[in-house]
Amino acid sequence: MGGGILSLKKIGHYHSGRVQESSNALYANGYSMEKNDVLVKKIYDEIFIEINRIVNVLPTETVLDIGCGTGELLSRLSNIAKNVIGIDLSEEMVKLASQKKLNVILYNGGTLPFDKEKFDCIVVNSVFANLPSLEIASHLIEEAHRVVTKNGRILISAIHHPGKTGMPTHAGNWRTHLKKLLGLQQPIHYYSYKYSFFLKEFDKLDFSQISYFPCKIQHESLRGKYHVLLKNWR
Ligand SMILES: C[S@@+](CC[C@H](N)C(=O)[O-])C[C@H]1O[C@@H](n2cnc3c(N)ncnc32)[C@H](O)[C@@H]1O
Repeated sequence: MGGGILSLKKIGHYHSGRVQESSNALYANGYSMEKNDVLVKKIYDEIFIEINRIVNVLPTETVLDIGCGTGELLSRLSNIAKNVIGIDLSEEMVKLASQKKLNVILYNGGTLPFDKEKFDCIVVNSVFANLPSLEIASHLIEEAHRVVTKNGRILISAIHHPGKTGMPTHAGNWRTHLKKLLGLQQPIHYYSYKYSFFLKEFDKLDFSQISYFPCKIQHESLRGKYHVLLKNWR
């Protein structure tokens, strides 16, 4: 979609969808596993080490965590850099993250509320699979690109192996029905992406370097998925 502007109708529809799936989102974010705090911390420690191995955040840098959820990565990023902001579409998530005294903003799904080229580093972890359409995914990439500095970097993580075919996994398909039938409390992943989707999107913008990094995380929910690092040299 050109111009990065979503219609209000679409945003409204998206919002109501997000409310309905908030319990899934909480599960996805590890929050509903809070009873097993130690496990959640262990997984996020592992995810964070892997992410930071790739983006290598410096203490002086300004960092944005898009779709920060309850702030598991945001809090770890905040331990390293001074200027770290999280943003999320879900009121529930923003509430939970701010209770942890993290710097977090509620997002309306449209233009990111930041000036262009504000952030040295942008992290978008485990968000893309939850986006309900390629249009919204494309919009998020455009907005991240607008607010990242020249020479900055954007990391989109927990993306499937580029060699695998991207399959739309929209709610309503057999996987969702099966989950319901079996009473599984797992998050609904709408979309996995074809590598060509990212290439096309980045081509439209002026990213000069795109790299896939194999994900070393051993936890079963992330094993076999890949990070994407985009270096933005304009
Ligand atoms: C699976 S959780 C991941 C949370 C966090 N990034 C983490 O790694 O723990 C996905 C998050 O993305 C948020 N989200 C979904 N669509 C979004 C969008 N368009 N913009 C910002 N956040 C979004 C959801 O509200 C949810 O908190």
